[in-house]
Amino acid sequence: MAIPRSHAIVGCGRVAPNHVDGFRSLPDWTVAWACDRDQPTATAFAAEHGIPRWSAAWHELLDDPALTSASITVDHRQHAELAIAFLEAGKHVLVEKPMATQPADAQRMVDCAAANGRVLSVVAQHRYDPLVSAVRGWVREGLLGDLLYVAVSLQSSRPESYYADSYWRGTLDGEGGSALINQGYHCLDTVRWICGDLAVRAAVTSTKVLADVIETEETLSALLTADGVPVTMNVTVASSVDWRTRLEVVGALGSVTFDLDHPGTLHHWSGSAELYRRVSAEQARTAVAEPPGIDYYGISHRRQIADFCQSVTSGRPMLSTARDAIGTLDAVLGLYEHAAASAAAVR
Ligand SMILES: NC(=O)c1ccc[n+]([C@@H]2O[C@H](COP(=O)([O-])OP(=O)(O)OC[C@H]3O[C@@H](n4cnc5c(N)ncnc54)[C@H](O)[C@@H]3O)[C@@H](O)[C@H]2O)c1
Repeated sequence: MAIPRSHAIVGCGRVAPNHVDGFRSLPDWTVAWACDRDQPTATAFAAEHGIPRWSAAWHELLDDPALTSASITVDHRQHAELAIAFLEAGKHVLVEKPMATQPADAQRMVDCAAANGRVLSVVAQHRYDPLVSAVRGWVREGLLGDLLYVAVSLQSSRPESYYADSYWRGTLDGEGGSALINQGYHCLDTVRWICGDLAVRAAVTSTKVLADVIETEETLSALLTADGVPVTMNVTVASSVDWRTRLEVVGALGSVTFDLDHPGTLHHWSGSAELYRRVSAEQARTAVAEPPGIDYYGISHRRQIADFCQSVTSGRPMLSTARDAIGTLDAVLGLYEHAAASAAAVR
């Protein structure tokens, strides 16, 4: 008989319901704790989601011997400190993206998980989107031929209140950036997942519309390479469009254009008869298998959480490892470094 497992949510804000949903959808797992340093938030979240225990102090959870794992769903700056504390207490940890705001912290997290024999995973839910998996497979099998370039963009709209009402968003200390490290992160990570390791060539940031409320970037434009393939990237949180991603992968034998919106959609494809056959199969599969979504974050938190739980119970490595997440963080921080250098050069 399977051992019952108990999970905690640390940080009961916007993304926390996706974590409750994911763990709730699995047999043998319960969400036992709702923890938020703002006590009314913790109690309201526990009541709304029927979670039996709440706390305003995350240290308290470390002493619960029945607790198997925790989701760290707080601001970016605290990810490393909290993840390490839970790992050292013997808990498995699922931490939201980005892994940390400093490369040294990310490495410490990976080392701590290894030293304590615990699973550490960084949320990268779009790696689990069936459409992303399909495109990745087509690229790896050579159905697009040699890749010529990738173009990726995110247009999103965040009102001033999104930043003004938050203790961390739009601050360099709490968020570490904005359009890229928070919203654009998914596009960057997906390109890396499909096309390979990223090197930054150039980056420019700007902030105009939200300049009164954020000290971070609202727009970033960049040129990178993914395993040598040129990648152009444009991300913004100040457009008139609520949320629209586009990824175009162009190869010598075929090309695909798709998005990470919910549900992920393939907009364009051209290539061989085999690629057309694969696209038809993918479209038929998505039409029957896609469960209802949760906002524009998509549905794949469920899939990553299922992978996390499987890894905890069986020891099987996850599809998306924490060690690998360091590479995406390095690309994010590299883009910010290039943008800062480019701004300094024109001053
Ligand atoms: N994967 C995705 O698609 C996705 C979507 C949204 C947010 N996120 C990520 O999730 C994380 C949280 O984002 P959010 O939008 O839910 O933030 P939020 O501000 O809505 O919620 C954060 C909560 O954490 C609480 N908190 C802060 N410090 C704490 C501490 N030390 N102990 C306990 N509680 C604490 C705050 O009181 C707040 O309620 C961020 O890393 C963000 O980038 C990921």
